Amino acid sequence: MARSRPALAASILMVFLASSTAPWRHVLAAASDDEKAAAGLVGVDGTQFVVDGGKTIYFSGFNAYWLMLVASDPARRGQVQAAFRQASEHGLNLARTWAFSDGGETPLQSSPGVYDEAMFQGLDFVIAEARRHGIYLLLCLTNNFHDFGGKRQYVAWAREAGHGDLADADDFFNSTVVKGYYKNHVKTVLTRVNTMTGVAYRDDPTILGWELMNEPRCDADPTGAMVQAWVEEMAPYVKTIDGEHLVTAGLEGFYGDGAHESKDLNPWGIYYGTNYVETHRARGVDFATIHLYPDVWLWGSGADTQLEFFQNWTRSHVSDTELYLGKPLLVTEYGKFLWEGVANRTQRNRFLGLVLDSIYASAAEGGPLVGGAFWHLLDPGMDTLRDGYEIILPEDCRAASIIGNHSQQLAELNGQDVEAVRRRRRRSAQHRKVHVGSSLGRSRSSSDTDATQSHLLLVRFISWFRSISSLFSSA
Ligand SMILES: *[C@@H]1O[C@H](CO)[C@@H](O)[C@H](O)[C@H]1NC(C)=O
Ligand SMILES: *[C@@H]1O[C@H](CO)[C@@H](O)[C@H](O)[C@H]1NC(C)=O
Ligand SMILES: *[C@@H]1O[C@H](CO)[C@@H](O)[C@H](O)[C@H]1NC(C)=O
Ligand SMILES: *[C@@H]1O[C@H](CO)[C@@H](O)[C@H](O)[C@H]1NC(C)=O
Repeated sequence: MARSRPALAASILMVFLASSTAPWRHVLAAASDDEKAAAGLVGVDGTQFVVDGGKTIYFSGFNAYWLMLVASDPARRGQVQAAFRQASEHGLNLARTWAFSDGGETPLQSSPGVYDEAMFQGLDFVIAEARRHGIYLLLCLTNNFHDFGGKRQYVAWAREAGHGDLADADDFFNSTVVKGYYKNHVKTVLTRVNTMTGVAYRDDPTILGWELMNEPRCDADPTGAMVQAWVEEMAPYVKTIDGEHLVTAGLEGFYGDGAHESKDLNPWGIYYGTNYVETHRARGVDFATIHLYPDVWLWGSGADTQLEFFQNWTRSHVSDTELYLGKPLLVTEYGKFLWEGVANRTQRNRFLGLVLDSIYASAAEGGPLVGGAFWHLLDPGMDTLRDGYEIILPEDCRAASIIGNHSQQLAELNGQDVEAVRRRRRRSAQHRKVHVGSSLGRSRSSSDTDATQSHLLLVRFISWFRSISSLFSSA
């Protein structure tokens, strides 16, 4: 939707006025860019992320998949700088973005092992700017979906190279040839030496960690064994190249059939080809992730059902993470689709507040849910990338205020001694066990009916739709 210039000017003025008194300003003003950049490599200790030899760090984050693409054009780098500046002004300290663009019009990797230097320099720039603004990066290495290539492109490459037996995109997970291509991409990115900072990616503390794939799913093996085997191979592989950075699989949190899974809680109670607990237990996986899109995952259901889903999903993953994983948990994507007549900004902001409050509640009591990243941040003037989920901080005072306040709340929890957090958590454990024990869902095995199949198609379509905007970005 086009905004009139006076409205835009008014909201920019309001943000300016608000920001001069906003509480998170003084926290950030105290640290110069250099000090902010000095935080150092992030590690994991139990369910907490730690820096500086055992001090807690919590993440108030955003997604911006477009950073490398935009930065690959030196004339547009100001937009990347503006995004990091706005993010930093609102206390955001984590950006999740793509370190892949497989084939297509604007490739990072145009064919297996062949790389576009302009795109790579775009990523170099993104990493250098993130560092300058004190923002950590979670870098994702390929996509489950077609946007920017993903598993279908990898399989197509193998077919073009003469492996005609490969047909299905899910062959990505078990073809030796394709796994070789993927490993080569991992190695190329991780060993890249940044042309702007001179630091190899694998040595750069600006990077929080590597995400193997955006939202792995697998129709070929609904129970999750194929994705399981792939993660069990790839996470340790990443560690052989880069033993320092953290690794996660990139899951949305869907449950399968394994021990401690709660498939009934999945949207529509069906399979998506992953196991939340089992896959996050794989060797080399350092922390867990979930995504949260109750509105599109449960499209057509009422607000009450969506709220109940949100509460179930969050509570269940927090307790499973604590009981069975003992690792930190991030909500690496969440958002609400703005659609005229379906949801307006007031409702979106309420959802934003709900997610952020649940993150803070867990973090404040030493729980495993220690941060998140909203989908997604855009700069003003990036209209072609609007997808109904965008949050443009200078144009959205209310969302900016919610996010800024949350960042400040989380920042106040940073720097605690992790042992002290653990002791505090243990003291309240008895109470929690009673609480958790009564709320755990158990999976029932049920065969997929035609109705659930069509729901599955719907959920897949919506995931595709959610990221379809990337198709316009090369225009
Ligand atoms: C990969 O999985 C597919 C689907 O289950 C199967 O048909 C194929 O034989 C598997 N390939 C290998 C190399 O295991
Ligand atoms: C939430 O969890 C409860 C208890 O397990 C279950 O009865 C209910 O159906 C769930 N609701 C949704 C929307 O998932
Ligand atoms: C947003 O939608 C809700 C529910 O339909 C409605 O009550 C509210 O007035 C709307 N707010 C705005 C600002 O349009
Ligand atoms: C953010 O915090 C300030 C100061 O405490 C408060 O005035 C403002 O209403 C808060 N914003 C939101 C959206 O809660």
